[in-house]
Amino acid sequence: MNIRDENVLRELNLYPLWVRRDASVAAEHEAAPVVAAREAPAAESLPVAAVVLAPAARTEQAAVATDWPALKQQVRDCTACKLRAGCTQTVFGVGDENADWLFVGEGPGADEDAQGEPFVGQAGKLLDNMLAAIKLKRGANVYIANIVKCRPPDNRNPEPDEIATCLPYLQQQIALIKPKLIIALGKTAATSLLGRDATLGSLRGTVHEYQGIPLIVTYHPAYLLRSPAEKAKAWQDLCFAVQRMSP
Ligand code: URA
Repeated sequence: MNIRDENVLRELNLYPLWVRRDASVAAEHEAAPVVAAREAPAAESLPVAAVVLAPAARTEQAAVATDWPALKQQVRDCTACKLRAGCTQTVFGVGDENADWLFVGEGPGADEDAQGEPFVGQAGKLLDNMLAAIKLKRGANVYIANIVKCRPPDNRNPEPDEIATCLPYLQQQIALIKPKLIIALGKTAATSLLGRDATLGSLRGTVHEYQGIPLIVTYHPAYLLRSPAEKAKAWQDLCFAVQRMSP
């Protein structure tokens, strides 16, 4: 393991607590650790509203643009829900528009609202380190987007109507990117894309499907910052994702 890898694992709180278990993943990715026995913390505690969307909610939207420039413009101009009035700018998404990997968060926070790019604050730094831990990099075969494109006030969770209004934009982004794998970061992303409510814990460790695209669920980086002991489980999820993507 080189110094950079060591730093990444240190940042993820996984070093030197872990020992490797799965040789195949370990060989390729330098670590497939056994999670050190810890007391199981409560499930992800973001106060997430149930966001199961009625099928009708998905079809009430105005037609969504079908190419990147028009879609970006449409999102920039969007005032379809109450979030736009309270945010500085829309945050469309960032990265490789032909990426194999799509990471989906919940919605912009203060830093993202100011900079117009997803995951650029503290949670974003952790996400970048999570990417680095599996040899990925923002923008290189990776696209990062959110369920809602406008910052919810006071960092509250997006409400079901806001999610329903904004989701078609993400759905179109996914249709254009055609990723090989979607990683849903946190419960809001997972339940919004899967269209059903469930605990994050119950969704982890399984390959779900979104429109025929494999989807894996892990913790939201902001939650991991508040609950660092859970980083070990997030690392398990990332290793699971790497395995899923390995030929
Ligand atoms: N949290 C999110 O869900 N998305 C961001 O872009 C930043 C923080």
